[in-house]
Amino acid sequence: MATNDPPWAQQLTLLLDRAWQCLADGAHTRDAAARYPTLATISDAGRPQARTVVLREANRARGQLAVYSDVHAGKVRELRAHPRASLHVWDAAQRLQLRIAATATVTTGDDVQARWQPLPDHGRAAYGHQPTSGTSIPDALAYTTTASREAFAVLAFRIESLEALHLGEHHRRALFERGDDWAGQWVVP
Ligand SMILES: Cc1cc2nc3c(=O)[nH]c(=O)nc-3n(C[C@H](O)[C@H](O)[C@H](O)COP(=O)(O)O)c2cc1C
Repeated sequence: MATNDPPWAQQLTLLLDRAWQCLADGAHTRDAAARYPTLATISDAGRPQARTVVLREANRARGQLAVYSDVHAGKVRELRAHPRASLHVWDAAQRLQLRIAATATVTTGDDVQARWQPLPDHGRAAYGHQPTSGTSIPDALAYTTTASREAFAVLAFRIESLEALHLGEHHRRALFERGDDWAGQWVVP
């Protein structure tokens, strides 16, 4: 069918390539669309909890993403209790939405030293709030940041499935699953 839609949106393999390019750009480029995905977790009450995070790594060979956080953050507590998570990206320039279902692993301590070491001081300051993240305080600025490696956590997301939706002249939606080696399947948008 004749169309102005980009070739990468019209074939499963090219669409998956584009999705990973989008994620790789997010992990490496400050103003890329996938720099700030929305991470959704499950609260103890069973409620979805969504918030913005910075994408730190996109490893296609492993089918894995990584995010940094404070070990005391609510999201980390939630992921330890309920490791199933979802990440969402909207790349407006490409008109491409990514919905990722993943299983999370939280790593801290000596095992994250290699990632802590290159962080600049202002980056480290995001880890180690006193009192801890989410604590009620009497005043908006009644807290300090301690740049604590002990509080630094790496959240690894093992992707189970990745859904890509492209909005073009024709809308196309595809589901790629680890279980079928990412072969992909078109689905109704
Ligand atoms: C642009 C932006 C980037 C953020 N990046 C991160 C991040 O990489 N890691 C993180 O733990 N929180 C990050 N946050 C803060 C979270 O969105 C959230 O407000 C905070 O971590 C507390 O969430 P929680 O209580 O669900 O853990 C970011 C917020 C914004 C607005």
